[in-house]
Amino acid sequence: MNYYDSIAEGYDELYEDEQLKKWEKCKALINFNGVTLDVGCGTGFITKKIRNVIGVDSSIKMLKQCKKLRVVLASAENLPFRKESFDTVFSFTALQDVDNIRKAVIEIKRVLRKDGELLITVLDKKKISIVRSELNKKFNGLKEENIGKDVVFFKQRRIQHRRQCTS
Ligand SMILES: C[S@@+](CC[C@H](N)C(=O)[O-])C[C@H]1O[C@@H](n2cnc3c(N)ncnc32)[C@H](O)[C@@H]1O
Repeated sequence: MNYYDSIAEGYDELYEDEQLKKWEKCKALINFNGVTLDVGCGTGFITKKIRNVIGVDSSIKMLKQCKKLRVVLASAENLPFRKESFDTVFSFTALQDVDNIRKAVIEIKRVLRKDGELLITVLDKKKISIVRSELNKKFNGLKEENIGKDVVFFKQRRIQHRRQCTS
């Protein structure tokens, strides 16, 4: 049985407070404009804070806890969406659990609009260096911060300043 299937029922009780504290520290780093994909959305208690969002997770039992959310059972390494379908890709404490991080990052890049926003947090264990290296290969100008036990990688949309018209 998938590990997260086995802990799904008790997941919120164990981790909701910790995850919400991290969310408060990083929610303002990007704008979450347009449609957001949440990769590894789990039981959805962070996902539901985002407007216009679709969650994906590979654990059917975690997804069963998601209430009133659009969610899809899928793996991060094989996202069932067309290229550039999302304005924002978000992933909260999930990539450290993915078997093939390289493939997941390639998929995230594929489904994200070219000028889209990205916010990925990863639990700071030994896999953090792999995640950092794969993300930096695919995304230019990623910023990085520490929040609690996680490292957050993010990329904001470039703000286009309107040229002032002088006539
Ligand atoms: C630590 S939980 C985080 C869940 C949620 N983002 C949160 O903040 O509470 C990691 C999640 O990643 C999911 N996951 C692990 N490997 C995955 C994969 N290859 N594709 C999609 N989701 C995956 C797990 O099922 C689990 O729900």
